[in-house]
Amino acid sequence: MSVQNDIKKITTHRLSEMKLRGEKIAMLTAYDYSMACLVDEAGIDIVLVGDSASNVMAGNETTLPITLNQMIYHGASVVRGVKRALVVVDLPFGTYQGNSRGALASAIRIMKETAADAVKLEGGSEVIESVHRILSAGIPVMGHLGLIPQSIHKFGTYTVRAQEESEAKKLVSDAKLLEQAGCFSIVLEKIPAKLGKQVADEVKIPVIGIGAGAGVDGQVLVIHDMLGITQQFSPRFLRRYHNIAAEIKGAVGNYINDVKSLDFPNEKEQY
Ligand code: KIV
Repeated sequence: MSVQNDIKKITTHRLSEMKLRGEKIAMLTAYDYSMACLVDEAGIDIVLVGDSASNVMAGNETTLPITLNQMIYHGASVVRGVKRALVVVDLPFGTYQGNSRGALASAIRIMKETAADAVKLEGGSEVIESVHRILSAGIPVMGHLGLIPQSIHKFGTYTVRAQEESEAKKLVSDAKLLEQAGCFSIVLEKIPAKLGKQVADEVKIPVIGIGAGAGVDGQVLVIHDMLGITQQFSPRFLRRYHNIAAEIKGAVGNYINDVKSLDFPNEKEQY
């Protein structure tokens, strides 16, 4: 007998309906079970198991070191906590570029070993063969254009992308290429707001922005940034909804004081 519940799962189809009726899509990252439960219960539409885990979970300077096995560990943990949202897992650096058969093998491992709903990868024309091959296996793909952190060593900086006309033109043409290939959505990172709106207007699939302005179909932020867990990172596009770092440090400070002053544990807190 199957378990019945009233939770209507978010699908790629529901996301395109949201774009059609002008309802904005809210997406956040999560990398572990407990946080995934919280963001899902709060009603988020898409949970991204981003390779930003390399930065915020592992403390690396870039997203490049994180491995497929590590992404699978994070992805499977998140999927166990999510009932409603669509879960997308990033294909990490080196697992899909330049080898479409390898890309398919990586995407299949993510789908089989995490039970996620889709994968995300960075780039346009350079990775289109990989996109086609992954899609041919029935795996939904989300694209990612603009600032693509896996190529940081090519660009050299994390500044706003596509300010020059030639790069803006390539970005628009890459977005159309990804749409024609069959991607269900595209993330646009750190580009001029005007260009973000142009792309969202010119493709039918939902465009989710991070520093791409208000004219796109949805927004994504890294959960550690928006909750104020990370402290040094404050780009202009980031709105902080909390200062959890201060609360955590306060609570830990109180605990330390209680232990040292013999206040904890009290009579009721022992057997
Ligand atoms: O890895 C990530 O968190 C991302 C978002 C910034 C879109 O790709």
